[in-house]
Amino acid sequence: MCGIIGVVQKRGVVAPFLHQALKRLEYRGYDSVGVTTISDNKLYVKKDQGKIDEVHRRLNLDEMPGSMGIGHTRWATHGPPSMLNSHPHFDCHNEIAVVHNGVIDNFMELRLELSKKGHKLNSETDTEVIPHMLEDYMKEGLSLAEALKEVSKRIEGTYAIVAMSTKDNGKIVCTRDGNPLVIGTKSGVSYVSSDIPAFLPMTNDMILLLDGEIASLTTDEIRIEKLSDGSSVERDTIKISWTADQAQKSGYPHFMLKEIHEQPEAIRNTLRLRPETIKEAAEIIKSSERVYIIAMGTSGHAAIAGRHMFASLAGILPSFELASDFSDTVYDALSDKDCIIAITQSGETTDTISAVKFAKEFSTKIVAITNVVGSSITRLADHTVITQAGPEIGVAATKTFMVQLTSLALIALALSELTGFKDTATIQGKLESLQKMPELVSNVISRNEEKARRLASLFYDKPSLLFLGRGISMATAEEGALKLKEIAYNHAEAYSAGESKHGPIALVQDGYPVIFVAPNDDTRKRIIGNIMEMKARGATIISVIQKNDNDMSSIADHTFTIPSDVEPEFSIMPYVVPLQLFSYYMALRKGYDPDKPRNLAKSVTVL
Ligand code: F6R
Repeated sequence: MCGIIGVVQKRGVVAPFLHQALKRLEYRGYDSVGVTTISDNKLYVKKDQGKIDEVHRRLNLDEMPGSMGIGHTRWATHGPPSMLNSHPHFDCHNEIAVVHNGVIDNFMELRLELSKKGHKLNSETDTEVIPHMLEDYMKEGLSLAEALKEVSKRIEGTYAIVAMSTKDNGKIVCTRDGNPLVIGTKSGVSYVSSDIPAFLPMTNDMILLLDGEIASLTTDEIRIEKLSDGSSVERDTIKISWTADQAQKSGYPHFMLKEIHEQPEAIRNTLRLRPETIKEAAEIIKSSERVYIIAMGTSGHAAIAGRHMFASLAGILPSFELASDFSDTVYDALSDKDCIIAITQSGETTDTISAVKFAKEFSTKIVAITNVVGSSITRLADHTVITQAGPEIGVAATKTFMVQLTSLALIALALSELTGFKDTATIQGKLESLQKMPELVSNVISRNEEKARRLASLFYDKPSLLFLGRGISMATAEEGALKLKEIAYNHAEAYSAGESKHGPIALVQDGYPVIFVAPNDDTRKRIIGNIMEMKARGATIISVIQKNDNDMSSIADHTFTIPSDVEPEFSIMPYVVPLQLFSYYMALRKGYDPDKPRNLAKSVTVL
């Protein structure tokens, strides 16, 4: 949450780059935006409440002097969105500027202490204590970096902080504890950001900054030190394979639609993961006593689907736990013989990272599935599978979900081989069907997109919709309902079709939309029974079914169709796609921006 960018370059005006970098970070929060540059030893600032385009129209973010600056796009925690609460924040003399992501837990006592010393704080944020504390330390003669080291000793919480000062010109200083920061490097320019896409058009060379480290960036040098003992850190540059083009809309009206269309390619690239990487994950799982899968949101739905895949293909049934509730659920029932599969596309979700840290206290093994190289989870895990979706910019996860499912399917098949639960021919057949998935998903998109648009115009004003499925399709239904809630704001609930008659059916009356996920698998017959129950109460039935399933289509009012048979363990991959499209067109029909759902941000880095 909250996007951060900082850049120091030898010459040229930096403001237009900062503006564009913030646009690429907007998925992290979009209630306010701010930029500060330094020119002629003076700070220039433009900041306000609102989305970047709105603020730019009012203030013209491109017109600011100076070749170094920092910027921030905000997802409010302390203090509502307002000009005063927008970052950057400053000291009493407008000489130090700070942007911050995270939460300073002890900000109240620090604020009180600063006020007593005569500092004037203007905002309601926790962040503002930082520049004022820096001011005091710099007054004692410390450099900006030394002052930030002192500040980091006093603040409690999780943070990524980027600061610059006219008193220590030509340098950007940054530190982190619990929130992401990556450094970008190119001849004569240094970048720091919360996310790689911010500087992707300029460089693919990245250096990781780890928790408890501080970096000083100039145009010629990047110096990293450990906060604990001041020792210097030598770290290699990593080349990122993502392209700048992947972080552009490339002619699509929204990132979400582009990313739905990129799913076949994302699956294809993930299927090319090194077999050893998959095998190692499977081996850790196989050798563990208890296996847990943990995740949040959409990644949680991939986890639920993964659980079905492991059970059906490998005879291993992991427990699924929401990462946020993990320690409250398992208590001390963990050991070094157990393993956790942690799924997080960003690799930064605090709920998931905290659960993993908790498990590590018991020496439990961690297998991570993430889309971001160098993200926090990769440094905690014993083994990591990096999915190959490329950067996902739309806040609603689509293609990263698809590659999580792809990697889980690969691990399940490798696990099946190890456990011998299925014979070689069966495993080979399933693998071959997985290889055909990119083409199938591509066909599903082309066959259902227009239908999704049409159905959205029929259902957009329905206050509530029910999504029902059985078995693995329960995860598909959950994901369909989540997508609709988060971008179109219709109330939507997913239930097991079996459970639906134990309460939720009371909601159903004439015209109430019920969406059934009904692939041609073992659940199909029972699903028909559930459809009939809903129809008998006047529900309007929308079903996602296999093409030519005449029984199913005859009892539905509307259908989305999947063109061919699919292995039951992988049905979620094609069957979720019409639901992604449906949500997208529902949001559009209601006039909402699907890329920037209200109250949400791409990476949830608060507990
Ligand atoms: C929904 C969505 C969120 C995330 C959740 C976990 O579209 O994007 O529900 O899935 O916040 O995020 P990661 O996968 O980054 O841990």
